[in-house]
Amino acid sequence: MLYIDRIMLMHSSVGKEFFATIRRNVKISYFTASIIPLTILVYFSIKYILPYVTKGSLTDLPLDIGIILVLSVFVSVLGFFLLTKATNSAISSLQNLHKRLTSLFQITKQIRETPYLDVLLESIVKNAMRLISAEAGSLLLYDDTGHLKFKVAAGPASEKIKDRVVITGVGFSGWCAANKQTVRINDASKDERYNHELDSRSGFNTKSIMCVPLILNNKVIGVLEILNKRGGIFTEEDENLLSSLADQAAISITQSRLLENQQSDMIHIAEILVAAQDSIDPTKKGHVRRVAKYAYLISKELNLPEENLKTLHYACLFHDIGFLKTGSTRDTYQLHPKSGYEIIKSVSLWRGSADIILQHHERYDGNGYPYGKLGDAILLEARILFLAEVFDVLTNKYSYREQLDFTAAVNEIEANSGLQFDPAVIKAFKASIKDTDIIGD
Ligand SMILES: [Fe+2]
Repeated sequence: MLYIDRIMLMHSSVGKEFFATIRRNVKISYFTASIIPLTILVYFSIKYILPYVTKGSLTDLPLDIGIILVLSVFVSVLGFFLLTKATNSAISSLQNLHKRLTSLFQITKQIRETPYLDVLLESIVKNAMRLISAEAGSLLLYDDTGHLKFKVAAGPASEKIKDRVVITGVGFSGWCAANKQTVRINDASKDERYNHELDSRSGFNTKSIMCVPLILNNKVIGVLEILNKRGGIFTEEDENLLSSLADQAAISITQSRLLENQQSDMIHIAEILVAAQDSIDPTKKGHVRRVAKYAYLISKELNLPEENLKTLHYACLFHDIGFLKTGSTRDTYQLHPKSGYEIIKSVSLWRGSADIILQHHERYDGNGYPYGKLGDAILLEARILFLAEVFDVLTNKYSYREQLDFTAAVNEIEANSGLQFDPAVIKAFKASIKDTDIIGD
């Protein structure tokens, strides 16, 4: 069981115990509160009324004592009734709050575990609407150019406002961003910040609204807003819940953006490295990309997990990078797997790809280099890369060898089954790559 799940379970059972204790205490209070007035009543009755009853002259009972007694009973019963009602209502409010806090806890857990920014933003808005029970919601973020933009909108007419820019300080969300303060308005059209233009353009009728700024390190990164509370008004409790959600949302959005930026930087760096390899030998232009495609088709046939596909993809893209350091002369040719490994291994994201590059000239029969590894001791991804590379070399025009057609290339590869290549990889290669998959230069 995950740590976080365990905490949630504890949270839930502690909650039940908490309310059971309250109920028990309340019952004791009721008992005490009703027994004491009842005892006084009985005492009064015995002392002042019983003599009249035993004498059979109840009609002689002074009127004022009778009225006082009747009123006492009435007030006592009424008090008991009202107290019961008020306490039950308080308990049910507490239970409701507990339910909402549990929901908030689950939502923040879900938000923390969502890695993709677009999915994350949508999840924040939809969960905020569900948590507070609102008709619509949206999330605005500052982009790189400093514009506050609607990134996600959910609910009626949501499509019409997506990607619209909000001027800081204008409208409820603009005001919220500019002042770093929450907006909670239950009669929106009467507020001076109400943006008529936005509603008339989208066709949405904003009745009530709550906006919270998304703040991280004292900087506003955006605004989370929800509109039109279902069956009531936005309360202080709603505001606190939405603010808590916004705190976690701001952290997760920032982390997710950082990750996406890093990934796009890495893609950019990969492009540069591919271009550098293309420049080593003009006749090998496009080689690494073609190898990546063939290796992908073979790997899919072998049902490699998604993560391994990614690692192999980058290994294919950088497998010749060692030539940049060693050159590709007859004497230095065999050094390129090792120097390629040295170059790539220092990038933590590509560490797995470096190992594949190191082994991509190992042969299945143990006669390869740099280590002469044998059979399954060679990484499966390296066995795939080796075959994909040879297939591309055979089927394309290179300065150092004759170009073969598809059938001749397949025959040459098959002739090396168990020697250069793993028979299982050849089988997957034959099942997955057709004549039409060959990419020309
Ligand atoms: Fe190579």
